[in-house]
Order: sequence, then C-alpha cells, then structure tokens
Amino acid sequence: MGSEEALPLLEVRHLSVSLGTREGEIRPVSDVSFVIGKGEAVALVGESGSGKTLTGLSLLALFPPGARIDSGQILFEGLDLLAQDPATLRKIRGQRISMIFQEPQSALNPVLTVGTQMRELFKSHTDLSDIRIREVVADRLRSAGLPDPGRISRSYPHQLSGGMRQRVMIAMAIALDPRLVIADEPTTALDPTVALQILTLLSSIRDGRTKGLLFISHDLSHVRRISDRVLVMYAGRIVENSPARRFFGTGPLHPYSRALLASRPEGTGRTRKDAPLPAIPGQVPPLWNLPEGCAFAPRCSRADERCRMEAPPWQSEGEAGALCFYPDRTTMGAPLHVA
Ligand SMILES: Nc1ncnc2c1ncn2[C@@H]1O[C@H](COP(=O)(O)OP(=O)(O)OP(=O)(O)O)[C@@H](O)[C@H]1O
Ligand SMILES: [Mg+2]
Repeated sequence: MGSEEALPLLEVRHLSVSLGTREGEIRPVSDVSFVIGKGEAVALVGESGSGKTLTGLSLLALFPPGARIDSGQILFEGLDLLAQDPATLRKIRGQRISMIFQEPQSALNPVLTVGTQMRELFKSHTDLSDIRIREVVADRLRSAGLPDPGRISRSYPHQLSGGMRQRVMIAMAIALDPRLVIADEPTTALDPTVALQILTLLSSIRDGRTKGLLFISHDLSHVRRISDRVLVMYAGRIVENSPARRFFGTGPLHPYSRALLASRPEGTGRTRKDAPLPAIPGQVPPLWNLPEGCAFAPRCSRADERCRMEAPPWQSEGEAGALCFYPDRTTMGAPLHVA
C-alpha cells in the first residue's frame, strides 16, 4: 500500500478568503479547515450568506473577481490546488473534482442541447471516439435516473422539468468519474418526492472506498439522510464539525447547531422551498460588521461577557468539535459548562 493510500481525499487547512464589497472588506471564508475522507459524505450547512457556496467553489480553486486568498491550503489527494497553474486546474475540474451548481439554469447552456453539452465534456477531457462518447453519454444519463437518454440528449434545458434538469446536472457532474463531487443545494428547487430521489442518487454516486461527496444544504432532514459528517458554518467560519451519528444522536456541541436542530419544523419529511432553515431569533450579523468575540454571541442564550469579548477556541470531544467557549458536552442531554 503506497503512502498515497493513507492520504485523505481532500484536506482544507486554515483557508481564509477576503472580498472587497461596497460595504467594505469581508471575509466570507474565515480560517476554514476540514477533511473529506475517501468514501465519506460530508454535509455543509448554515444560513444563507454563511459562506457555503464560496467554500465549495474554493475546492475547485474558483474565486469571485476581487477575491483574495489570505491564507490556507487545499490539498486534493496531497496536491496543493492553490499552487497549481490554470491548465492543471482545468484538468482537475470536472475530471477529478466536479460541482453541481446551486443554479442549474445558469450552469447549463440554454442554447445547446443536453447531448451537445455532455459530448463536449468528453471531447475536451478524453480522446474517446464519437461513437464511444455517445454510448458513455447515454450511460451517464441512465445512471442519473433518466431512462430515455436519446430524448434527453436531444432536449434543450428549458424543455426539461426541474427534476430532470437536476438529474442532467448530476449526469454531467459524474460524467468523467470524478473522485470528489460537490453538490450545492441540489434539492432546493424540487418538490419533496423528487428531492428524495435525487438524494438517493447522490448517495449512490459515492463509492464505498474511493469517492467523496460534499453536500451543501439548508435542509437538516436531507443532511441526516446522506452524510457521515456535518460541518456547520456561521458568518464565514466552521463552528461545528461532528460525526452525523453524534450530531443527530446525542446532539451537536455548538449552541447554534442545537438551535438549528431544535427549531426544525415537526414532520421532517416535509421539504419547504420557501423557508428551508428554521427561524432562530435574531439575524446573522453582516460580514462587514461582525461583533467582537463570537459572531453567534448576540443570538446565543448561553453567551456571557467572555463570548462577547474574546474569540472562542476550538474544543473537541472525541471526533466532534466546535468553536465555542461552552460547547454542549452532553451526557444524556445534560450540558456541562466549561469555565
Ligand atoms: N461575488 C461576490 N462579491 C461580493 N460578495 C459576495 C460574492 N459572492 C458571495 N459574496 C458574499 O459572501 C458571503 C457568502 O456567500 P455564499 O454565497 O458563499 O453564501 P451561502 O452560504 O452559499 O448562502 P446561500 O445559502 O444563500 O446560498 C455572502 O455574504 C455573500 O453576500
Ligand atoms: Mg450558496
């Protein structure tokens, strides 16, 4: 077994990305660290604007104009993505790491048929013959749960339903058999039945041993179905990183994660398009005007003077961890406050 076998699929180390905005400089990705192991599905959750999409894009070394990488490393199978030249990155994108984008409409070209777009992927990344490409395209569409690949191939994106478009996006994301798939809110615009089918499809993408999935979602009931590990983002930071079994079992460590879980609507089978995350009193502070100390302190029932003044430390318990002075080191639901 070579040393490469021992490497995680992906490791993000202390990544910070700043952006100049009209309101001033913001840091939507702030000291973000996490690992995706081979065969692991990791969920990234958090309220709107917390930095989930920018974190996902970072894994493709894609940054919005005006973005600055302040620090950090992104190691994909040991290769530092931020140190690669554009040609190498183009090869890695799609072929080794692919992304299902939050807006399927904007990710698919409206004036080209699905077949043309999929064939193009193979033409630019492989040297397969045209006949073979047609076969592989049909195969990928079928794998994505589209039983009539001929008809889908001839269709333009607008001729397909939302669920079918999302399946096409998935077919494109898995086309070149990548090792890591990033799925950014892949179920948001879909009705609940279709959303569940898409979730099943996504969990089947990930091979038991070699492939990884980063599943970005607002919906904790979906996260529960699909993930091995849960990352919670708040105002640009990862505030919790815990095994899903613990997160949904004994419960998460961070008061914010607990609030997300506690205020989840009853009847978790219900997917709500309009209000995907439950309401927690108060609002996410604007990134250009973060409070001193913990960014969640103004909304946290447990916060004290220290939380408002000092940056909280990362505290671990077994394989779980949280950025908090007072994580819920729960034993049978009883919080243990650490001084
Ligand atoms: N191109 C950009 N220019 C300026 N600010 C941006 C840009 N892209 C994102 N931001 C800001 O960065 C922060 C994080 O954005 P991001 O899209 O990553 O959030 P998100 O967690 O994916 O939210 P959502 O759940 O709404 O998709 C937000 O405050 C957003 O306004
Ligand atoms: Mg987003």
